[in-house]
Order: sequence, then structure tokens, then C-alpha cells
Amino acid sequence: MTKLFEETETYYASREFKKDASIFAADLYLDAKFGREKFWAKQAKHLDWIKPWHTILEWTPPDAKWFVGGTLNACYNCVDRHITGETRNKAAIIWEGERGDTRTLTYWDLYREVSKFANVLKSRGIKKGDTVAIYMPMIPEAIISMLACCRIGAIHTVVFGGFSADALNDRVQDSGAKLVITADGGFRKGNLIRLKDHCSHPSIVVKHAGCDVEMVEGKDLWYHELMQNASSDCPVEEMDAEDRLFILYTSGTTGKPKGIVHTTGGYMVGANRTTAWVFDLKPSDIYWCTADVGWITGHTYVVYGPLSNGATQLIYEGSPDYPQKDRFWKLIEKYGVTILYTAPTAIRTFMKWGTEWPAGCNLSSLRLLGSVGEPINPEAWLWYYTHIGQKKCPIVDTWWQTETGSIMIAPLPAHTPLKPGSATFTLPGIEADIIDNVLAITSPWPSMLRGIHNDPERFYSTYWQKWDGKYYYTSDGAKRDADGYFWLMGRVDDVMNISGHRIGTMEVESALVDYPQIAEAAVIGVEHAIKGQGIWAFVLLKDGVQVTDDLEATVKQHVCAKIGAIARPERIIFTRDLPKTRSGKIMRRLLRDIAEGRVLGDLTTLADSSIIQELKSQYDD
Ligand code: PRX
Repeated sequence: MTKLFEETETYYASREFKKDASIFAADLYLDAKFGREKFWAKQAKHLDWIKPWHTILEWTPPDAKWFVGGTLNACYNCVDRHITGETRNKAAIIWEGERGDTRTLTYWDLYREVSKFANVLKSRGIKKGDTVAIYMPMIPEAIISMLACCRIGAIHTVVFGGFSADALNDRVQDSGAKLVITADGGFRKGNLIRLKDHCSHPSIVVKHAGCDVEMVEGKDLWYHELMQNASSDCPVEEMDAEDRLFILYTSGTTGKPKGIVHTTGGYMVGANRTTAWVFDLKPSDIYWCTADVGWITGHTYVVYGPLSNGATQLIYEGSPDYPQKDRFWKLIEKYGVTILYTAPTAIRTFMKWGTEWPAGCNLSSLRLLGSVGEPINPEAWLWYYTHIGQKKCPIVDTWWQTETGSIMIAPLPAHTPLKPGSATFTLPGIEADIIDNVLAITSPWPSMLRGIHNDPERFYSTYWQKWDGKYYYTSDGAKRDADGYFWLMGRVDDVMNISGHRIGTMEVESALVDYPQIAEAAVIGVEHAIKGQGIWAFVLLKDGVQVTDDLEATVKQHVCAKIGAIARPERIIFTRDLPKTRSGKIMRRLLRDIAEGRVLGDLTTLADSSIIQELKSQYDD
């Protein structure tokens, strides 16, 4: 893989792209420079508010309140405001299932479906302030469910459909969700993924896959039956700008994922504006973000950003190689996609599959490409630029996090000269710096997280303590070049980035030690050509346990069952001990040195240095 900084050429948007731009970037930057809060207040007017705010920002670090006194409804902004004018019959969602089945929902269709389901939720006793979990494949009902929750003031917590029953259960418990909206199953690479089977809570079940499921009377109800007689008249709930919109769980450095809290007003302003700016969105675009709604990218750039802008978007349920390795390119050709927003890991996979797959399709409709989730290596950037964008589409490399709610560092495509591998500059209204080689966000922004559900202490210690509550600590290593470009270098904490997904080393370690024969485990993320990082686990077995031929496979399977297939370790290394400091802390840094073939770093703090030497020679052999 080529490294960051290795590609030094700068790329400019074409004159034609600039001429058609709908966003005047220079004006935005200038406006923001002359008063950040006023700038955001002006931007917030792109949403429909029920009551205007009286104070733009109350900032008592680390607690921020944006648009204080203002009220609005997120669903209204995504749906209702598009059903009166020209956008009424515009496609909001063009959906294609993995098996080729298709559905199109106009904004008017979406309005009716969302309103009906909001009434269904009410009839099940869900009210303002309640939490509802959503555990779904990528089907329109996932989005309908999210919007129906916010229509009635319920807080959603979406759990990625690839997570296991245990992971779902943990999130339902922690969030206090009263109900789970799920589906019988979904499809991935031609395989049926049975979702309802993982769900033991009271549920509403969408019939999608058509597989048999066990429905418990009085506990589980079919979505289609409940929808049959539901009214499509459901007024929106008036929400305070600071009322919770959703909780989304993300990995941190402990075994327990954090429930990141986002509120209505500020989050919606961030989602709405950054979508318009970064994608230079136009009414005629066919926009496609390939993220699952189970992640923050799916929340902000599949649901709240595009819909609040009245965009038409493509949603695809399945895998890029089903039935063949050109499925993405076929979809782009079929629907005339103009904007594609995907992850570097996907791009590296396409590189491996070869240029003949995209070359066989007509990709001329594309005008802009996006990247998210991890640093994009220049080699992948150039491949994406050449073979997908046909050297005419700018690439927006967007840096942000679940916690930031929306994009923080990215080019504005008609304006910013691009350097492959750099996310370029902060967006207008966002201020950042690099302190001790880590990216710091130095002033509050509207879509910032408002806390960790039920854990204010962890909120402070994780994000604010480092710089005395003054600046937000991102946990991302970063550099700035002589032109002021930001280069994001990856996490500096014990969080791995596996195919653009955040997974904590401790989470995988907890899953490993849950296996009866394992005494201790240390997990590290190791450079991986496609996934960015792959999971390696160093495992210490209990006394007397022998390593058998199938033990490695069984242990890997155990991790999948505990967390989900995304956490499957690449390698399990059985060892007699783990390298620890005298105080008992596992030195993962040294394990990474071994795995990535580096000279071993400082060993003086180790309680017993022989083990690391032993592991190194075992590995070198
Ligand atoms: O390390 C950064 C990396 O992904 C982390 C955030 O993960 P998550 O909350 O799951 O959100 C992913 C989608 C926004 C960050 O701390 N990351 C994300 N985008 C980039 C990135 N690293 C470098 N460049 C990016 N464009």
C-alpha cells in the first residue's frame, strides 16, 4: 500500500464542474470567519423551525446547547416540507434488493408510510422520550422506522444488522429500548441473514426475506398487519432543539460500547448543511451513499442529510459482488447515479477485482466521488479517480466520527485543490488544530455529541479531560503540511478500524475470554491490504488446555457469535504468556511491532521481556 504523503500531485476540479457548482465555498468560508455562531445561525435557517431560537449557543464546557429555545421536528424537515411543492412526486428513495427486486418511494409515499408507521408506534404505547431499537437490513422500512420515531419524538437506537444477538441485547439493555423493529431476514452475498432469530425482545417484524420466523403471541407483531389499517394522518411532535434525536453505539477503549447521544436541532443543521456543501448537491442528482443505516454515515448521509435536502437517493441492500463483481457499476449505470460516497476498503476490494468490471459499465453519469471511514491510501485514491471517476470527478475525502455527527474536515469540491490522502481543510464554521500530534476540535459545533448515554463521567474523561475541557479530543493522530492541509493518520487509542468500522480491542478481548478455555487475550489491529486493519489475537489458554487443529476456527466463530462477523480475527496466536508492564498492563504496541515486522521498541518497562523475544522469534520463523 502506498503511504500518505507519497503522492504529491494536486488535483483541481474542471472548469465545467466549477461552473455548475451550486455552493459558493469562498462566501461560506468568509462568512464563517466573521463570526462562527452567527454563521451557524444563518445556516440553521435552511431548516424549517416551529419556534425560532433565542440564543444561538450556550457553552459551558463540555456541555453545549445550540439554538436554545428553538423547536422543530426532524421528520418534518426530511419529509413533510417536500410534499407541498415540486418535490411531492420526486423519488426520495430508489431501492434495489440484492435479488434485483426494486421499489421507489416518492416523498409523498414516504410521508404516507412514515405517518402510518408513526401511528402504529403510538398504538403500541410508544411516546415522546421513549427509546426504540431498530435492527434491520438495508430496506426502506429501516428509514421509515427511523423517521417514524422522530415524527412522534421517540429516540431511535439503530443496531447494525450484522451485529450478533448478544450485541443487540447489550444495546437494547443499555438504551432502555421498549421495542425492537426488525425484519424476518435480509440478504447478503446470496445468503439469508436471519435477523428476527437474534431478537428476544418485544418486536415489530417486517416481512422481507419471506423465511419462517417464530412469532411469540402478545410479544411479536407483523409490520404489514399493523400497517393495514393505520391512518396516514399523524401530526409531528414539536421537539426542543436539545431534545434527543438518537443514540448510536460505537466502540471505545473499554469492552463496553458507548451510547453516543445526538440532539435534534444542532445535529440536523450539521447533517443538512454538510450534505449540501460537500456533495455540492443539486435537485437533479442521483445520490448514493453505500453505508448501512446501522452506522453514523448511514444516519447522516443516507437519512437525515439527503432527505432534509429533498434529494433522490439510491439504496442497495446487498453485497457488491452479487451476482457478479460489477454490481455497483451496474447500479450506477442503471440508475444514472451522479454522486457515489463509499469507503476506502471497498475501493481496495474493487482494485483487487480488476478494472474490467467497472470498464464494462457506463459510468459517465458520475460527477462526484466521496470517501469515508478511514484514511484513503493514495494508490486507492488514484485508482478511484481514474477508473471510477474517469479523471473528471473530484473526490471528497471526508473526516468525521460518530461523535462529531457530521463531516468536519473535507474539501468543497468546486473550490478545494485535492491532494490524494488528505481530507484537506475544516469545513466552514469548524475549527481544529493539532496538539501533541492529535487532532483537536477547538470550538463547539452544532452536531457535536451531547453525551454518552448514562455515563457523563466517561463523556468527560474520553473527550474533554485531556485538554481541561477546552478542546474536543478526537483520538486521531494527525499532521498538517506546509499548505495547511490536514492528514489524518489513524487512531491513537486502542480502537481498531476494520474495513472502516470501529472495533475496540477490549471488546474483542472480552469476547475471547468469554470462551471457556481461554485465560487471557490481547488483541491488536494489524495493517491489512484490503481492510485497512485486520484483527490479530494473542491468546493464553487455561492450564492444561491443548491446542487442537480446530481450536483456532472455533475461537474465531465464538467471536463472531459474541459480536458479529465484522469482528472475526484474521489470526489467533496461541502463546504461553502476554507481554505486560510491571503494573500488569498489556503492551499492545510491542505486539504490533512484531506483527508488522518492525524492530521491537523499548522493552525496559516489561515485567518479563523473554516472552516478547519468544513471540518475535516464533513470528520471524
Ligand atoms: O479514525 C477516524 C476514522 O474513523 C473514525 C470514526 O469512526 P466512526 O465513528 O465509526 O465513523 C466513521 C464514519 C465517519 C475516526 O476517528 N475516519 C473516518 N473518516 C476518515 C477517518 N480517518 C481518516 N480519514 C477519513 N476520511
